[in-house]
Amino acid sequence: MRFQLKKVQKEHYIMSVKFYKSENQVPLEMHKVRVVQKLNLLPVDERLRAIQKAGNNTFLLQNKDIYLDMLTDSGVNAMSDRQTAAMHLADDSYAGSETFNRLKTAMKEVFGTDNVLPAHQGRACENILAERFVKPGMVAIMNFHFTTTKAHVTRCGGEVVEVLHKKGLIPQSDDPFKGDMDLQELRRVITEYGPEKVAYVRVEAGTNLIGGQPVSLENMLAVADICHEFGIPSILDASLLQDNIYFMKTREAQCKYMTPKEIYHLLAGKMDIIYFSARKLGFARGGAIISHNTELIKSMMEFIPLYEGFLTYGGIDVRSIEAMAEGLYESLDMDYLSHGPEFINYLVNELDAYGVPMIKPAGGLGAHIDCQGFVPDMPHDQYPAAAVATALYIAGGIRGMERGTLSEQREPDGTERFAELELMRLAMPRRVYTLSQIKYVADRVKWLWDNRQLIGGLKWVEEPQVLRFFFGRLKEIGHWQEELVSKFKEDFGESL
Ligand code: F0G
Repeated sequence: MRFQLKKVQKEHYIMSVKFYKSENQVPLEMHKVRVVQKLNLLPVDERLRAIQKAGNNTFLLQNKDIYLDMLTDSGVNAMSDRQTAAMHLADDSYAGSETFNRLKTAMKEVFGTDNVLPAHQGRACENILAERFVKPGMVAIMNFHFTTTKAHVTRCGGEVVEVLHKKGLIPQSDDPFKGDMDLQELRRVITEYGPEKVAYVRVEAGTNLIGGQPVSLENMLAVADICHEFGIPSILDASLLQDNIYFMKTREAQCKYMTPKEIYHLLAGKMDIIYFSARKLGFARGGAIISHNTELIKSMMEFIPLYEGFLTYGGIDVRSIEAMAEGLYESLDMDYLSHGPEFINYLVNELDAYGVPMIKPAGGLGAHIDCQGFVPDMPHDQYPAAAVATALYIAGGIRGMERGTLSEQREPDGTERFAELELMRLAMPRRVYTLSQIKYVADRVKWLWDNRQLIGGLKWVEEPQVLRFFFGRLKEIGHWQEELVSKFKEDFGESL
């Protein structure tokens, strides 16, 4: 134990309730819906046409053709009444905006420091951090890479080295913190390269690409200590920290009686730098880099006007900065923090009980289907997770995202880099979908599971060189999608 426990009264918050004469806990929305957006559920034949027109890439689908958009939880979370009200106060000026001062006040409350550099989103922060720290031949050590993070490090001539604990890649387990770094391996890698070659160590909270799996507070603090020992900058990617804090409080004994604010403050005090995408943290848009270390902040300040905009708006629309500031206060509220993880847990449990291979335990961000288990005979280079994503769109108008080999970059010699995990993620936008919609998702995935023998692979038609998953176009191998549609009609008749 590296930190002092502070006992506080357990706050009152509701995460789920027990229903009468039922064994199951059911997640309960601690908000009501006051603005609605009409949705559309296309008939199955039209869904087939839409996905083929989109080059079998769910990024290229049109929103009007989607019933439930579970592509991401980034920039699609519902804003609160307080956030939209705050937007009206926006002080729209190029320099010296009062809105920026309100953002600083919110940062101080949540992270304990108002040394903040605003940037237009998470990857803009990554660009600045890579530019500041990564020189050719250096390494950036991480528990796991994220797509845009890695692209920025390699663009600056660096290399990403991952030191995820091996438990993180076991698809089904009951380990509470699969995002933890292997601390021995971290020391070994630092020693192997030499600390002067290490640009920084980056811990990603709520580790995205392994299924939104959290990192324990104890592990994060130990990583910060090791960085300190070697004189290497420690960076926390806090984009998914909200979920991570929920898991710390519910799975890590020493956090149970800490408030979320105490955890944020402790982390900000220990890490040299924290950055985040406010499209996730704070239910808003934008991003920010913060640090207690004024010199570090000053050393990156010049990049803000160069790449983003003036320091007091950082390339973000001022109204969104107001929403970000208000959303940061909400990121301290367990009623809000628990919504995503509780809904995800419900969906994962429903599917797991039916036999669908899910990443377990349920993490943050979304529910993740383990596609190596879903379509075990499909080779990696036919992109099993992407194929399952197209099949689920056909089955239910539900848009998920491939997080497997297709999301990897090819090796410099052109060969495929097979992903360790072939995941199809169903992200959970916060405060957006109701439980009956999530039940519908579970139902359509169950149907697909029972018909999984019909799912075939995909092949490239157009393959971009960088971040190919965004714009790449693929074609189904054979006519399996038509067969899936026929089976759907057989089972559901006229029902959509
Ligand atoms: N770090 C993590 C852990 C992320 O999940 C993301 C974005 C970023 C950084 C980049 O932030 O999008 O604001 O530029 N994740 C999104 C997703 C895109 O869908 O998982 P951004």
